[in-house]
This record gives sequence, structure tokens and C-alpha cells, in this order.
Amino acid sequence: MGEKVQYPSNTTWRMIAGLLCRTRRCWLKFSLWSILIAALLCVFVYHLTQLPTPRVYVTKPSVLNSVYSFKRNEELVKNADKFWWFGHIWNHYQPHLSQNKENIIELMRQNYEFAEKHMLLSRTNSYAVAPHHSGVYPIHQPLYDAWAEVWGVMVTSTEEYPHLRPDYMRRGFVHNDVKVLPRQLCNLYTKTYKYEHFATGKEGIREMAEGGYVFEVLMNTPVSIFMTHISNYGNDRLALFLFEHTINFIQKWTNLQLVTEPPLKLAEIYFNLFPSEKLPVWTSPCDDHRHLDIWMGDKNCSQLPNFLIVGPQKTGSTALASFLGHHPLLVANKDNPVTFEEVQFFSDDQNYQKGIEWYMSNFQYPKTNQLLFEKSATYFTYSMAPFRAATLLPEAKIIILLHDPVIRAYSWYQHMRAHSDPIALENSFLSVLQADSSIANTALVGLKKHCLEPGIYHLHIQRWLEYYNRHQVHFVDGTRVITDPVKVLHDIQVFLKVTDLMDYSQYIKFSKTKGFYCFTMKNEKQKCLGPGKGRHYPGMSSEARSLLVNYYKPHNQRLANLLHELKVPLPEWLTAKS
Ligand code: A3P
Repeated sequence: MGEKVQYPSNTTWRMIAGLLCRTRRCWLKFSLWSILIAALLCVFVYHLTQLPTPRVYVTKPSVLNSVYSFKRNEELVKNADKFWWFGHIWNHYQPHLSQNKENIIELMRQNYEFAEKHMLLSRTNSYAVAPHHSGVYPIHQPLYDAWAEVWGVMVTSTEEYPHLRPDYMRRGFVHNDVKVLPRQLCNLYTKTYKYEHFATGKEGIREMAEGGYVFEVLMNTPVSIFMTHISNYGNDRLALFLFEHTINFIQKWTNLQLVTEPPLKLAEIYFNLFPSEKLPVWTSPCDDHRHLDIWMGDKNCSQLPNFLIVGPQKTGSTALASFLGHHPLLVANKDNPVTFEEVQFFSDDQNYQKGIEWYMSNFQYPKTNQLLFEKSATYFTYSMAPFRAATLLPEAKIIILLHDPVIRAYSWYQHMRAHSDPIALENSFLSVLQADSSIANTALVGLKKHCLEPGIYHLHIQRWLEYYNRHQVHFVDGTRVITDPVKVLHDIQVFLKVTDLMDYSQYIKFSKTKGFYCFTMKNEKQKCLGPGKGRHYPGMSSEARSLLVNYYKPHNQRLANLLHELKVPLPEWLTAKS
């Protein structure tokens, strides 16, 4: 056995074969591809076949693994220059088990020191994986921090994003500058290193290669990363058998080109092919037991909202959220000093990128029967928001406010003037509305769009209904938030199935000073919304009004048709005009 060195766990050094085929489901093309099996897989295949035939020392699987791997690792280290190496985690420790970054760093350092001692560092390549995908997805920030600190990891891979199945739907994403690539299964595991371990034996493996599962995976995924235990390169050499046969089969029956590249290059290729995947789409770890298993023990989905008030802006959304927040069972997000009162997770890419733990940190842990909610009025119009919200909160209820779009547009213009927006200050409302996109400057057109587009309600509603069922969505008439908030709040409580209905008529009273309804606190003092809500400004010119009425006429008609189809009573302002 030679000099005894302490080796990392037997799974420390594993193999990655990155195989590239240009488009998803490229098998459909069968075009002018030729076969090119390059670097990584080739190197592994070649050198592993040169290793001495493995000997089994003992038959108890656990001992067998360690003795076997020890011998094998020694051979690998001797042949270090023939491989690409990458760091792992000492003792196969799963990072999600520790909240403490230092623990993970300490374990990683042991691997690092091993690599340093055996002069493997120059052969590492910014790639790493985590045991059982732990911490990669769902994201465990201490793992990413430790990777950055110890190894400078820039690429990893996982089978878990967004979910293990279906395999052809796995995606990549980028987090903390680490490019996470989708990894594929090859069905060879730690304990399947001999033909006899497969119910279907050698023939079954051949089938996987020759038109079966592994062949299909390669056909369906343009960039594939496979990983299998080192023992599958010894013993019956299942990995060699499987990949050789798959590649031979592809060579024989297709014109596909397969290329192997180092991880960084592979990641670059992947995200050039699929740039839109860079920003992750957060799924709920509670929807997948595999994800729950590798999520921190103290986490759960209770800290995610049960309902969202999605806006749009200037429809009474603040008044509505504020009144609801006085209900002891309805708990709004904590105040956020950066985004003011709104979380804006689904509509702000920077916030969204911070991940679900950041999102959850905006909410307190609910008590029994409490429902959590947040109001971000930018969600309604932001094209990605319904998809993102439904992916993370598929069971959530959605509240949409529909205020007369004519009034809404003017309210937005006044809002911008109140915020000293130079364009709004320099231009009358009418000239904003009349701005011609082809000649006007972009800021003016931008303001015009912001006045007009949110009010095309039917288009936005349809997008939300692509992701949420009708019964999950509740529509609120914005006019009635102003004129009859008590009834509006009652209906919402019923829709939310709040266990203890609050009689808002006791608390919400009209304030002559404010000119709007306000909440009466325990000390009998009225708490009205601030000066930014329910502003005083001159009325709209009749020209602007008639321009808007004409503009919205066809859209409001479509809205009326849609609401009719959905069996939703029409808002007062819509009945009056339709
Ligand atoms: P104005 O300030 O133009 O009158 P949002 O909160 O979605 O931005 O909507 C702001 C609008 O809410 C206000 O627009 C106002 O008309 C309306 N609103 C409804 N109920 C209100 C209330 N109780 N207090 C203040 N504003 C209210």
C-alpha cells in the first residue's frame, strides 16, 4: 500500500463529464453533427482503464467501500496529472446542517489542505459540489460563502433545480457569481458498482445506453453533467461501459457532436445558450420533500405570505392593506426601510435575487390562525410577477384592485408631480397623454406609459389567471375602497376564510379633515394615511378626461367581458360607463 496518507471521504473526488449538444431536444434535428469526445470524459475513461483491476478485500459493504476507496484514491493521487480535481467537503458533511459558515469553512479547509499537500491545487478548476446537493438548492448561504472563501468556487451543479423530475426540465441559475449547472442522473450509484446490482443486469445497462434512458438524457439536454461514484470506474467498470456504449451509439446513429469542456467553459456555454436562466426562479422547498430534507432544520414555509395584494398602484392599495393590517389575524410584512412599505420581491429583480430567506425575513412567524400578507402594488403589472409568485406561493390568494383607470392615470401623474418628477412638473397632464412615442423624448413617453398601461386591466388580469385559479383571486372595486371600505373589508375576510371576522364598522370612520375613511385606534384617535395618500390637487381637464375615456373604452369593454366570464360583479365605475 506504500505510504499511508489520510484521504478525504471516499466520495471526495468524483467525476464530471460535461457533454454538450447544442439545443434542447436536439435529437429531433439529427443534422450535421459529428462526434467529438473531448478532454474530460476521454481522460477519465483512458486513465481509469489503465488502473489495476480492483480487488475486493472484504465483503461488508461499508468496510468494502472504505478499503476499496483508499486503494483507489492512492492510485488516483499517483496519477494526479491525468485528472481535473475539485474540492469537496470533508466527511461528506452536508452544509445545510450547519448555520455557521465557519464550521463549513473548517471542513472544506481539510480538503484544501489535502489538495495542497498532494500538489493537486494547480489542477483544481473552480468547480465543487456539495454532498447530497445540500445547500446548493434550496440555497444555503453559508455554503456559498464558504465556497467563495476556501476554493473560490465559480461553478457547481445540481439535480435539484428546480426539481429532480422531470430530468429534461432541470435548469441552471447563478447565485453569488456561482454558476449552478443542471446535473443529470446516469443511474449508477454508490452501491451499484457491479452488473449484478442491477435487476436488469448488463443488458439493462446496455439498454440505457443504446436508445434508453441515458441516451435520451443526452439527446434532451444540450449540456449534460453526470456524476458517479469512483467505484463505478473500477469493479465491473459500469461507468465506462455505460458511457462508452452511449457515445458509440450516438456516433453510430446520429450526427451529433459531443464536446467535453472544463466546468468554467461549460458554464459559459450553458448561459450563452440560456441567458434567461441566470436569474433563479424560487420554488417552495415545502413542495418537495427532497428540498425540505436539505433545507435548514429551523426553516419552514409558515413564514411565507398566505395572500398578496398586488395592486396596481394608485387604486387604494395602501388604504386596503393598512385597514387589513389592523385585524389581529392578518399580519402584514415588517416595515422595510429600504423599499419603504413595500417588499417588492416578485417585481424587483434585485430583491428577487436575494432569495426566499430574504423574502421570509420580511415576515414574522405567524401565531395560530394568523395569515401573513404583503402589498406590493408593482406586482400587478410586472410581467414576471405572476409566474414568480405562483412558483413560490402556489396556494396563495391574490387580491387585485380595479379603480377607474381614468382616475388612476391622473392620480399617478399627480403622484409624480408630488415627487418633483421634472417631466410631470414641466408638462400638463394632457400633453403627457398626447405625447407621441415617435417624436417625444423617452422620459415623457415613459410617464405616459406609466399613466396608461396599468389601467389596461384585462391584459394584466389574464396574465395572473394563467398562474392562479379563479377561486384564488379576489377583485376589489377601488371606488368602494373610498366610499364603503367596511363592506370591502368584510368581503375580503370571507374570501380569505379568516376564522374570526372583525366588524370594521366599529373602527373605520370617515374623517372630514382627511376627506377619506380612517382607522380609529383604541385611544379613540383616528389614524389616517399620510399626506401622500388622498392628495389634494385640481381636477382633470375635460380634454384629458375625454381622451382617457376614449382610450380605455375598448379595454374596459374587454374587462367587462372578462369579469362577466369569471362571474365577478362589475365595479361601480365600470357599470356606470359600460
Ligand atoms: P390620490 O392620492 O390620488 O387621491 P395607492 O395606495 O394604491 O397608491 O392609492 C392611492 C389612492 O388611494 C389615493 O389616490 C386615494 O384616492 C385612494 N384612497 C382610497 N382610500 C383611501 C383612504 N382611506 N385614505 C387615503 N387615500 C385613499
